[in-house]
Amino acid sequence: MVARVTTVAFQGIEAVPVDVQVQITAGNPVFALVGLPDKTVGESRERIRAALFASGLALPQRRITVNLAPADLPKEGSHYDLPIALAILAAIGAIPGDQLADHVALGELGLDGTIAPVAGVLPAAIGASALGKGLICPAESGSEAAWASPDLAIVAGRSLTQLANHFKGTQVVARPTPKVREAASDLPDLADVKGQETAKRALEVAAAGGHNLLMVGPPGSGKSMLASRLPSILPPLEPRELLEVSMIASIAGQLADGRLTDRRPFRSPHHSASMAALVGGGLKARPGEVSLAHNGVLFLDELPEFHPQVLDSLRQPLETGEVVIARANHRVSYPARIQLVAAMNPCRCGHAGEPGHTCRRGARCAEDYQARLSGPLIDRIDLRVEVAAVSAADLILPAPREGSREVAARVARARAIQTARFRALGLDRILTNADMPAALVEEVAAPDAGGRKLLSDAADSLRLSARAYHRVLKVARTLADLDEAPRVGRLHLAEALSHRRAGEQLAGAA
Ligand SMILES: Nc1ncnc2c1ncn2[C@@H]1O[C@H](COP(=O)(O)OP(=O)(O)OP(=O)(O)O)[C@@H](O)[C@H]1O
Ligand SMILES: [Mg+2]
Repeated sequence: MVARVTTVAFQGIEAVPVDVQVQITAGNPVFALVGLPDKTVGESRERIRAALFASGLALPQRRITVNLAPADLPKEGSHYDLPIALAILAAIGAIPGDQLADHVALGELGLDGTIAPVAGVLPAAIGASALGKGLICPAESGSEAAWASPDLAIVAGRSLTQLANHFKGTQVVARPTPKVREAASDLPDLADVKGQETAKRALEVAAAGGHNLLMVGPPGSGKSMLASRLPSILPPLEPRELLEVSMIASIAGQLADGRLTDRRPFRSPHHSASMAALVGGGLKARPGEVSLAHNGVLFLDELPEFHPQVLDSLRQPLETGEVVIARANHRVSYPARIQLVAAMNPCRCGHAGEPGHTCRRGARCAEDYQARLSGPLIDRIDLRVEVAAVSAADLILPAPREGSREVAARVARARAIQTARFRALGLDRILTNADMPAALVEEVAAPDAGGRKLLSDAADSLRLSARAYHRVLKVARTLADLDEAPRVGRLHLAEALSHRRAGEQLAGAA
């Protein structure tokens, strides 16, 4: 007889069902595991043997064959321990097999029979719910699984013994409840930044429309400070976005104690980050920083210090909202719809362009530094601001009256207008102007006569690429939304173009 338990393999954030089949037959005592297991899965045999022994059971002294079907799908990770152990328990009659058939199981076993948390419980729970089955998972991951659906039956056990007792009906494990991570109330506030009105305005526009932003300025002018205040003005995640973000965090094993939060991700990888760290990949095709920043912000401080190839690998996700990682035998894709925010100095010494300053290395100082950025990457950045050094007079001023709360309210209003507009067009997956497809731009962001004249003049003199042309219109649409204006006017376009122009010199250098 073959005992079966369903588990999952992860392909991106999708959980693909895997059938764990166990057959115990007469013959020499062998424990064979087939179905493309990687090294971790192969080692599960030793953990299972020890965990069963610790639970007062021994592996039968017969031939045990475990098959993970479909046999041609690679199996990676430690979460196969529990389903294999459960299928063995069903095969020796220690657990009623028909009860297990209604569940998807995943979890890692300790040598003492305890069940350790694993990555990917949330996508597995969503997968189980789609299959119309319940979920068996580690106790620590229970509250994470509970987010998948209120109807999902969840058995979150601490140990193999507890699970066996649950299925025999001698000790019932209660269904876990979804938990929310308390939103941090001590986010840094925009009111701390003195002066820098242009940069603050650009930050607000970027937050309102989800636009990419680059800040260029001398050291100590407040670029990192401004960027770290972006989370305090961004609206919370919509329920669907929250689930996507949490699924990626779950696969990456970064969901702290199974609690979810509606705060938008803000990821700021160090400039020494490798390609695998940034876009994903490595041994297990884990999601990278771009995917962990999905539906949120990827902040790259000291932009030219990143490896040029690593930066260029961002071009594809910035355009398509998805990263595709090619492996030897399969392809994995993760969502990566991000808002890119970057900061940099204008040159190596940091002060090029300041009145009265001449770089010691001459004009090459700025040229060489800026040439580390490729033109196509700069072209994808809608808003570029020069953040000049703050004057002592500005610093002495009292803190500005307006803080993050007021700005966040304006951002939320502008976002509500955008969401409503796209919903009316039947596009409820698009939430911001930055995400709107190019085909829609002409319709949604069509400028009035004055605006059109300004734009066509500027498109010629600035030699805007087709992408830049559409991006300018998108920014102008966001500016109009901040004004609650139905049409994009001349003023909106003038402001959108001024943000583009600030970076022309940069794009030229690259
Ligand atoms: N506009 C400002 N208002 C108040 N304080 C400021 C301002 N700008 C800078 N500071 C002070 O200077 C410190 C450094 O600022 P920040 O790290 O943001 O500079 P930066 O522009 O990122 O510099 P770098 O190019 O060297 O990274 C801040 O922690 C803050 O104390
Ligand atoms: Mg900085």
